Amino acid sequence: MTSPVAVTIRLMAGDDLDTVRVIEDAAYGTEAWTCRTFEDELVNGFSSYVVAELSNGQLAGFAGVWFMRDQLHIVTVAVDPQLQRLGIASRLLRAASKWGWRQRCRSQYWRSGSRTLES
Ligand SMILES: CC(C)(COP(=O)(O)OP(=O)(O)OC[C@H]1O[C@@H](n2cnc3c(N)ncnc32)[C@H](O)[C@@H]1OP(=O)(O)O)[C@@H](O)C(=O)NCCC(=O)NCCS
Repeated sequence: MTSPVAVTIRLMAGDDLDTVRVIEDAAYGTEAWTCRTFEDELVNGFSSYVVAELSNGQLAGFAGVWFMRDQLHIVTVAVDPQLQRLGIASRLLRAASKWGWRQRCRSQYWRSGSRTLES
């Protein structure tokens, strides 16, 4: 990783979706989710989405998780291709893990596997 960049992690809002979709398209190409998918995720009651914001207000990336009983499922993470390898996804996932712990999640699941969460 090159030097970490300063970002603020905050909850995603409906106003972020235009920029989120631009990052999603750039990161995932033909696999990208539609705007409707993100709108549904923000209101389904078991998801939490966070964004990473640079000091100038630019959105650099986002992550989304589902809370399923005591399990935190990482659903998606994406970072603007111009800003990758700067530690932003790591910051997003650390924030998601902390949030999951506060929601009483004690294990974390990725498509590729799971691990026990630490407080
Ligand atoms: C995967 C992704 C979110 C990583 O974002 P990022 O901000 O660049 O990640 P970080 O800088 O926090 O990297 C943390 C570590 O992840 C690994 N990593 C990140 N990008 C990687 C890549 N393209 N190839 C291999 N390892 C990678 C590395 O171990 C890296 O540490 P290092 O830079 O010290 O080697 C970003 O590349 C992306 O948006 N990709 C397209 C979407 C995607 O594949 N999402 C994940 C599947 S849901």
